[in-house]
Amino acid sequence: MTNGRFVTFEGIEGVGKSTQIGRLARSLGARGVPVLETREPGGTPLAERIRTLVLERGEEVLPPSAELLLMFAARALHLHNRIEPALRAGRWVLCDRFTDATYAYQGGGRGLEIAAIAELERLVQGPRRPDLTVLLDLPVDAALERARSRGAQSDRFESERREFFERVRRSYLQRAAGEPGRFAVIDASGTPERVGERVMAAVEERAWIA
Ligand code: TMP
Repeated sequence: MTNGRFVTFEGIEGVGKSTQIGRLARSLGARGVPVLETREPGGTPLAERIRTLVLERGEEVLPPSAELLLMFAARALHLHNRIEPALRAGRWVLCDRFTDATYAYQGGGRGLEIAAIAELERLVQGPRRPDLTVLLDLPVDAALERARSRGAQSDRFESERREFFERVRRSYLQRAAGEPGRFAVIDASGTPERVGERVMAAVEERAWIA
């Protein structure tokens, strides 16, 4: 029997996902919970190579369908080689993005068919779904301002226009409204400490930890 938990973090660029995953991992670790921190696309050596392919701004056009298939190819590797073994070992897997990102970016953002995404989800994941999805939410302008202030060179997604991120945010919020039990929508404004308290409250609400 598995008592591992699968917790995913979602949101548009600049909402503070990595900071919050780090904070939650430290809090859980301090309570003696074994944690694996990981991310998508990526999380295994081959999946990280796919990440590089899909994020770099190369010469060749990457059609949305290729982007979708690469996301699921990386996910198949990640699930099989890292996530499922960790859950079987009773660890909590904290994952920076998962399939909700595919629905939001490739579905909402790029306009690909939701039914096609659902079919790949079934093929790659079977019944596996996150136990909890923390959606960090901020208005697009505020989030992009934060992302830009990090100053790194923008990748294929970060160089998208504002309207793209409006569609992505809207799809995330729609998914959350459709599955209120799995999602916790967290206001990502304010200090990392305040946002961290809201995230911890959402985890504690599930009564998984003493
Ligand atoms: P990030 O992990 O640094 O946020 O970058 C990953 C980028 O990949 C981000 O812009 C969202 C995008 N992405 C998708 O478009 N679909 C997916 O399924 C996943 C996991 C990520």
